[in-house]
Amino acid sequence: MIFTVAIDGPAAAGKGTISQAVAERFGFRHLDTGLLYRAVGVKGGDPAAAARNLTAADLDRGDLRTLEAGQAASRVAALPEVREALVSFQRRFARSEGGAVLDGRDIGTVICPEAEVKLYVTASPEIRAHRRWLEVGGDEARVLAEVKERDARDMGRADAPLRAAVDAVTIDTSSMAIDEAVAVACAVVVARLGRAKA
Ligand code: CDP
Repeated sequence: MIFTVAIDGPAAAGKGTISQAVAERFGFRHLDTGLLYRAVGVKGGDPAAAARNLTAADLDRGDLRTLEAGQAASRVAALPEVREALVSFQRRFARSEGGAVLDGRDIGTVICPEAEVKLYVTASPEIRAHRRWLEVGGDEARVLAEVKERDARDMGRADAPLRAAVDAVTIDTSSMAIDEAVAVACAVVVARLGRAKA
């Protein structure tokens, strides 16, 4: 069965947790596409060459989750040559046998517009910054500034800007517990799977 769940949204909205839970529940494979851009961002040198030559070891580095790696990712993610180099790997993953969940910024709009399920997961910048701060610590005001800066860059870039696909279901997790958000996401998948079988 080919079945793609595309999950897009801004930083720290809950995409990662929801994606993992959906993948586990339905036995689909999961790709966190942000990790690809983070790995390119921290690798240094020519970003397009880094994107073309990414290795498993690059994706396994321990420093990919830092605020700095997030900023570096969003800078290289604005470069069309970098995005282009990562497209075919993501598309192959999305349409591989057995079902796939991909989370990122442009999955439902650019990578897999034919995805069976498209979710746009969001929350207020303050709430997202608070959640990220609980993970990374440090100065919460700085985390908020970082989140807002990255949102502006990701939504404002010319190539594959962050936006909800017209046919995406939006889940605003601002006042939801994570279990609730996961339940909403799973319900959308169940409804679509039912139609796929009918
Ligand atoms: O985990 P978080 O939501 O903070 O970020 P991420 O998903 O790891 O993505 C890091 C950065 O990579 C984003 O700010 C985007 O600039 C970029 N990205 C992208 O452009 N397209 C994607 N499909 C995924 C990430």
